[in-house]
Formats: sequence, C-alpha cells, structure tokens
Amino acid sequence: MAARALILVALATLGCDEDALGPARAGLGWFSRAALSDHAENRVACASCHDTADGPSRAVGGTLAGVATRPSFWNGAETDLLDATNACLTTFMRSAPLDRDDGRGRALFAYLETLPGAATPVTYSIQLAVTRAPGGGDAGRGAAVYQRACDGCHGAPHTADGRLDPGAPLLPEEARSLAVQHFPTLSPALVVIEKIRHGAFFGVGGWMPFFSLEALSDPDLADLLAYLTL
Ligand code: HEC
Ligand code: HEC
Repeated sequence: MAARALILVALATLGCDEDALGPARAGLGWFSRAALSDHAENRVACASCHDTADGPSRAVGGTLAGVATRPSFWNGAETDLLDATNACLTTFMRSAPLDRDDGRGRALFAYLETLPGAATPVTYSIQLAVTRAPGGGDAGRGAAVYQRACDGCHGAPHTADGRLDPGAPLLPEEARSLAVQHFPTLSPALVVIEKIRHGAFFGVGGWMPFFSLEALSDPDLADLLAYLTL
C-alpha cells in the first residue's frame, strides 16, 4: 500500500515537472529553429549566434546564461527582454517582431529562464571608427578564427562549401570584388573590417551580425585577415 502511494506520488511529481518543463522544452525548440522568423530566406536561429553556458563567451552574440535576470541589455539601450530579443529577430533574422502575448515568445522566455547566470548587465565593446587594418597576423592561426567566427554562415573560404546563408558572399573573392566595386578608394581589408565590426548597423545594411571586441579581438582579426589574404 505504502509502496503504491509512493509510486503515485512519484508519478504525480514527474507529471508536474513535465508540465513545468513543457514550455521551456518548446522554447528550446524555438531557440534552435530558423523558422521562428517569418522571413522565408532566413537561415539563422538564436542558437546560431548565442551560447547558453555561464562564463566568458566568444560567440558573436555572447552567452544568454542568466539573460532573463539581467536588468538591461544592448549596453543599456534596452531594459525589456522582449525588445532586446526583437532587435535580433528583426535585424539578423529579418522577421516581424514577436508580440508580447505570442506563445512562441513565452515559450522562448520560459527556456531562457532555465539558464542560470549572474543577474548583472553584460557589456561589450564596439569599435566605432574603422580607420586602419591591424597588421602582422598569422594565417595559420587565422584558419581557426575563420572556422569559429565566419564558416558557419559563409561556408569554407574559396568554395563556400557548407554555406548556411546563400546571401552570404564567398570569402574572400566575392567580398573583395564587392569592396572594390562599392568603395574603390578604400583598401578591401578596411571594407571587410567595417562589415565585421558593424554588421548590419552604422548604415552598413544587410543582416549580418557585428563582432564586438570581446567576440573577436584585434589580434584574432589580424590573423583572420592574413588567412583571407586581405
Ligand atoms: C545573427 C546572429 C544573432 C541571432 C540570430 C540572434 N542574435 Fe541575439 N544578439 C546578437 C548580437 C551580435 C548581440 C549584441 C552583442 C552581444 O550581446 O554580445 C545580441 C544580443 C542579444 C540580446 C541582448 C543581450 C544583452 O545582455 O545585451 C538578447 C536578449 C538576445 N540577443 C537574444 C536573442 C534571441 C532570443 C534570439 C533568437 C530569437 C537572438 N538573439 C538571435 C546576435 C544574434
Ligand atoms: C550569422 C551569419 C554570419 C556570420 C557569422 C558572418 N557573416 Fe558575413 N555575411 C552574412 C550575410 C548573410 C551577408 C550578406 C548580407 C549582409 O551584407 O549583411 C554577409 C556579408 C558579408 C560581407 C560582405 C559585405 C559587402 O560588401 O556586401 C563580408 C565581407 C563578410 N560578410 C565577412 C564576414 C566575416 C569575415 C565573418 C567572420 C568574422 C562573417 N562575415 C561572419 C552572414 C554572416
């Protein structure tokens, strides 16, 4: 009798846990799916750009560990998690924003709430003026930087093998000719750095994310440029 009651209690508890996990599990699904965006050509998901582990991150969008408890976002420009998320959804994923009562957004936030981390703002540094290319890079080390930072979307250099987004130009060949075509008076390296540091922002346009100095240091950038022969 007692054993049976215990089993029932255990089952009831399991049931509750599953209910509690339900939205978070659905949220993890949306976190990982490009289809959260309503743009037919979008290929990226939250998970393409964000880590979820607590600790230093070199993912282009940083880690979202503890994000639901942060008092502000986007270097203090946003104080609402939905607005902070919609900035990514509309710019990088080319979607309409999520409404506050959208079940997908609620599930997504239920998932983000399960990610433990400090309840403090995470700041990052943006290079505003791009005036010179860091030199002296090591092409060998640059291969690993490329693999970590660019390969996921652009595919392999010179071939674009494994490219995620058909809108992402072949590196370095197409990027170089685009640079020469649009900015004939600048060195292609500077044009590429401008794109890396500002992404779709600062009037550059498009939908690529920008790399903060935390996500990509200047020494890493120098190695990357050497690898891409820019
Ligand atoms: C293409 C890359 C990309 C995608 C896709 C993307 N983000 Fe971001 N996200 C960024 C970048 C870049 C930043 C700003 C830099 C940083 O936070 O280090 C950012 C910032 C954020 C922030 C603010 C963090 C803070 O503390 O300032 C939140 C919240 C966020 N993203 C959530 C999401 C969610 C949720 C999704 C999916 C719906 C998503 N992002 C999709 C790149 C991306
Ligand atoms: C999340 C996906 C993503 C990542 C990561 C990414 N890119 Fe891009 N990149 C794109 C897309 C999509 C485009 C085309 C749309 C645009 O210009 O924003 C693009 C465009 C570019 C351009 C062309 C700019 C022009 O003149 O039109 C360059 C150069 C470039 N990327 C370099 C890089 C380098 C170098 C890296 C790694 C440090 C990188 N990208 C990482 C998606 C990405």
